[in-house]
Amino acid sequence: MKKWFAVIGDPVAQSMSPGMHDYWLQENGIDAAYLPIHAKSENLQSVITSLKLLGCSGWNVTVPHKSDILPFLGSVDDAAAHMDAVNTVVIEEEGSLVGYNTDGIGFVRALEEKYGKTRKEEEILIIGAGGAAKGIAFALRSAGYGPITFTNRTMANAEELSERLPNSTCLTIAEAEQQLSRFGIIIQTTSVGMAFSSEGMPLNPINVSPGTAAIDIIYNPLETEFLATARKKGADPANGIGMFVHQGALSFEKWTGIRPDTVGMMEQLTQQLE
Ligand code: ATR
Repeated sequence: MKKWFAVIGDPVAQSMSPGMHDYWLQENGIDAAYLPIHAKSENLQSVITSLKLLGCSGWNVTVPHKSDILPFLGSVDDAAAHMDAVNTVVIEEEGSLVGYNTDGIGFVRALEEKYGKTRKEEEILIIGAGGAAKGIAFALRSAGYGPITFTNRTMANAEELSERLPNSTCLTIAEAEQQLSRFGIIIQTTSVGMAFSSEGMPLNPINVSPGTAAIDIIYNPLETEFLATARKKGADPANGIGMFVHQGALSFEKWTGIRPDTVGMMEQLTQQLE
């Protein structure tokens, strides 16, 4: 039977994963398909059973199922366990389901591809305290990066996350804006500025130091207001295309054993979104 992979989510039609994985499958001469599957929360268990019965070899998990899928899996890797979230499922030969989270490691790979590994001593500011912030923070910590500070609209959420990550601290948005120049890496992880979502900026980066790595994990639009403002103040900006492509490349590698081309894919997706 022809191999196939999938992404399950609700909504899923907007996902750029099928195009990316189809391209990589073809580029690497693998005769397989990658399908978007619209899975409503109330049908999650049936969808998983169906994927197994229909011979799916592995799938990506996107909003809103990243945490809800955990009870249906046989085991998960450390990153997924830390984050209570899975974005990649692999079906082992004996049929057991293994969950991974490649979002955080994908972020670190994208960071190092763009800026090299020279910023490991820099202070890091993470804006936001949701699932994405958590994954990125744990992956940066595992990769040996410097001190992490969280800032968030709801301070209690930043404090809760900080308590789970030893040696991290919190600032209010106003404090972070004032002290912005001390951070060498600033990472925007909220949904503020995302197309068809909320406009504006979660924090004004007007006090950013020139040369600071300012990263927004949003990629649609390619440049959020946060990123544009930071760039105008001399920061070195990066959007979320890198993280998206690298988390996908890590999934692809788990399924096929092949490390696909990420640089070409980033260029291709950027052109699509321009
Ligand atoms: P994800 O898993 O993508 O990180 P999430 O867990 O829902 O999504 O987290 C969303 C993050 O965006 C949170 O930090 C949230 O702030 P609160 O903790 O205060 O809710 C932040 N966020 C969402 N909408 C926001 C807005 N309009 N202004 C500021 N922050 C916002």
